[in-house]
Amino acid sequence: MLSTPQVCHMIWVMLLLGQLHGYKSCIQKERKALLELKTYLLSISEEEVADDVLPTWTNDTKSNCCRWEGLKCNQTSGRIIEFSIGETHFKESSLFNLSLMHPFEELRSLNLSWDGSYLFNGLFDDVEGYESLRRLRKLEILDLSYNAFSNSIFPFLNAATSITTLSLRSNYMGGPLPIKELKNLTNLELLDLSGSGYNGSIPEFTHLKKLKALDLSVNDFSSSMALQELKNLKNLEVLGLAWNHLGDLGPIEVFCEMKNLRELYLDGNIFLGQLPLCLGSLKNLRVLDLSSNQFTGNMPSSFSSLESLEYLSLADNDFTGFFLLDPLANLTKLKVFKLSSTSDMVQIDTEGTWQPKFQLRVAALPFCSLEKIPNFFVYQKNLRLVDLSNNRLSGDIPTWLLGNNPELEFLDLKNNSFTIFQMHTLVHKLHKFQVLDISANDIGGVLPDNLGHMLPNLVHMNGSDKIMGFKEIFHLLWVR
Ligand SMILES: *[C@@H]1O[C@H](CO)[C@@H](O)[C@H](O)[C@H]1NC(C)=O
Ligand SMILES: *[C@@H]1O[C@H](CO)[C@@H](O)[C@H](O)[C@H]1NC(C)=O
Ligand SMILES: *[C@@H]1O[C@H](CO)[C@@H](O)[C@H](O)[C@H]1NC(C)=O
Ligand SMILES: *[C@@H]1O[C@H](CO)[C@@H](O)[C@H](O)[C@H]1NC(C)=O
Ligand SMILES: *[C@@H]1O[C@H](CO)[C@@H](O)[C@H](O)[C@H]1NC(C)=O
Ligand SMILES: *[C@@H]1O[C@H](CO)[C@@H](O)[C@H](O)[C@H]1NC(C)=O
Ligand SMILES: *[C@@H]1O[C@H](CO)[C@@H](O)[C@H](O)[C@H]1NC(C)=O
Ligand SMILES: *[C@@H]1O[C@H](CO)[C@@H](O)[C@H](O)[C@H]1NC(C)=O
Ligand SMILES: *[C@@H]1O[C@H](CO)[C@@H](O)[C@H](O)[C@H]1NC(C)=O
Repeated sequence: MLSTPQVCHMIWVMLLLGQLHGYKSCIQKERKALLELKTYLLSISEEEVADDVLPTWTNDTKSNCCRWEGLKCNQTSGRIIEFSIGETHFKESSLFNLSLMHPFEELRSLNLSWDGSYLFNGLFDDVEGYESLRRLRKLEILDLSYNAFSNSIFPFLNAATSITTLSLRSNYMGGPLPIKELKNLTNLELLDLSGSGYNGSIPEFTHLKKLKALDLSVNDFSSSMALQELKNLKNLEVLGLAWNHLGDLGPIEVFCEMKNLRELYLDGNIFLGQLPLCLGSLKNLRVLDLSSNQFTGNMPSSFSSLESLEYLSLADNDFTGFFLLDPLANLTKLKVFKLSSTSDMVQIDTEGTWQPKFQLRVAALPFCSLEKIPNFFVYQKNLRLVDLSNNRLSGDIPTWLLGNNPELEFLDLKNNSFTIFQMHTLVHKLHKFQVLDISANDIGGVLPDNLGHMLPNLVHMNGSDKIMGFKEIFHLLWVR
């Protein structure tokens, strides 16, 4: 225990060190500008919430504005380098007055986003006009997501020539994407235009030579011709095209030419036919999401070359017939595997005797018409989430999965034909285990005595049984 004088001494030393390390306050000019910004934000906020608008931004000259919420200073110069608007409630969507940002010449990140709040519907500047953002010469990150902006802000954005990251996710854009209006943003590396209601074909992005990550997910791009333009984006590392209306088999090969891809999201389109063999040439791919399409056939043997793969989702497709999992065997980095079919004609190869070189965290194979748990599960020691629901599994509840995977948190076995639930073989408690669903099986209401003991942190369990018809025999729910 330290005595009171010792504590005082320590605090004094820490304060002194703080001074030496230059924990400076922001400069007067910026402090004044911050208070002006607050006054503006107050003027467009609902009166009831006025006290919640940036309460730490005060007139008190003793308070260090570098510690005010939503701000970050350069600790040497005391200049503001980041501003994030945070949670705010406005009367209605308002214009954001860009001139208020001019004093922050060192600003590197401007973030006007707060999920679900739609704060602003336009940008304006009655001093510099469209040229406004050119003043912020150090600006790198501009996050305008979750607002109500329209395409009318593009001329303003085109002046922000220093930015490397631009997010316009979830705004009210619509119509064809006027990407040419951003022709001066040649430093852009990351562009997020997801959820913006764009339609028509995907435009050329050729002028954005440094672009590494592009997210066009959740728009209305529909023409398969659109995909051809993507050929010009050979250097992309991340491409999101999920939940558009892209279709047709042919053009999907266009992605195979993007050899630098690390993440590819094509879920929720209407791609049909066999999975293209050439996808196997994407050796850098870490994430491949092909879920919710209409792919048929088998997994291409070339998938065995996807040696960087960590996440593979083939869920919710139309696979039929014999389906081999062998190509996955040597993918040492695979952590998440998801597969399911809307057809009950799929026959997953469960007997494959190959030893997987991966240790999965997530294995989701619902709706796979499984009569036996695929052999690779036997080798898994690190599973957190297992979903084998809606299959045709029978016999004993596979408590060996709990025994082999001490980190398991979630096990879904609902809607199978299991008849016996015993936990005798389990020797270690599973402290992380939270959710067990064994409903809609044929177990008949006999629970193992040691269930609560072995799964001490179980939060949710559903054991309603289908043989008793609609009546749920037992359903335990503890909410902690
Ligand atoms: C700071 O003080 C001035 C003058 O008292 C006042 O007009 C202004 O509204 C105050 N600003 C804030 C952010 O409290
Ligand atoms: C902080 O400011 C100093 C002095 O202006 C500058 O040399 C340094 O690069 C800045 N650091 C950062 C991280 O911006
Ligand atoms: C926008 O900000 C500038 C700079 O503070 C100010 O001169 C101008 O009056 C503001 N415009 C509106 C409409 O608030
Ligand atoms: C912007 O702020 C929001 C809310 O605080 C945050 O979720 C988001 O990650 C921030 N954007 C960037 C680019 O840091
Ligand atoms: C865009 O770049 C062109 C050519 O470099 C230049 O003439 C124009 O002023 C720039 N526009 C903006 C808005 O910065
Ligand atoms: C494209 O979006 C615009 C604006 O939302 C809409 O008016 C137009 O009908 C859409 N066109 C098509 C072909 O969906
Ligand atoms: C996996 O590697 C082994 C050798 O380590 C090889 O015999 C086998 O054919 C490989 N399997 C696949 C599907 O590539
Ligand atoms: C139960 O699983 C079968 C497939 O084994 C599926 O066809 C059926 O729709 C599932 N029932 C429910 C209620 O999801
Ligand atoms: C329990 O499972 C049954 C059958 O799967 C389902 O109908 C019911 O909604 C579930 N109850 C809860 C609380 O999840």
